[in-house]
Amino acid sequence: MHLIAPSILSADFARLGEEVVRVIAAGADWIHFDVMDNHFVPNLTIGPMVAAALKPYCARPQGAHAALDVHLMVQPVDALIDGFVAAGADVISFHPEASLHVDRTLRLIKAAGCRAGLAFNPATPLQVLEYVLDQVDLVLIMSVNPGFGGQSFIDSTLRKVERARKLIDAAGRDIRLEVDGGIKIQNIQRVAAAGADTFVAGSAIFGCADYKAVIDAMRYELRRPSPASKVA
Ligand code: DX5
Ligand code: ZN
Repeated sequence: MHLIAPSILSADFARLGEEVVRVIAAGADWIHFDVMDNHFVPNLTIGPMVAAALKPYCARPQGAHAALDVHLMVQPVDALIDGFVAAGADVISFHPEASLHVDRTLRLIKAAGCRAGLAFNPATPLQVLEYVLDQVDLVLIMSVNPGFGGQSFIDSTLRKVERARKLIDAAGRDIRLEVDGGIKIQNIQRVAAAGADTFVAGSAIFGCADYKAVIDAMRYELRRPSPASKVA
């Protein structure tokens, strides 16, 4: 199943709760929560206190709540995990370069009852997955360099998405393949064709007054039969 995960990085930070409610009403599946530390990435955003404050707004009038999808762009990682677990994170992803002991960090997240994700920068290879794929619930392929919303999609990352899809299928476990950065109505179908099933979109959704129109258009693109496309 395809999931759309709006990144609140491009939402109105003065009205975050309201923005989360609006984007869930517009059809968001997950809420993507970008954590930046001005060290691993050159920007500074929000932490566990804001996640805890927003968690109640992830509830849906009926049915399951929208998952809080925490993307850690911080270094070091481990000390922040408890705070995000307590805040109600459903998924916590981190970048392997940011943890000295990737296996330990994955185990910390899993032991706390959260789903664990590994995030890969555009130039970071997938090798680290070889020995930890049995602990990973999500592979996050960055299609921009992390740090800012509104950047252009880097096409060469589609090859990595294809590769990650093969590794996940071979693992035979329920692992989501998320792509983050520069996703728009115009390119979401190509990203899906490469094997992604979970799509982060910040500026494409929050940059438009009608969130539902954008999410509906993305879902339409995802349902539309794709032309047999060859990835460059
Ligand atoms: C970038 C963040 C992304 C970002 C995506 O470091 O991880 O989640 O918000 O924003 P857009 O969709 O505008 O590229
Ligand atoms: Zn992100």
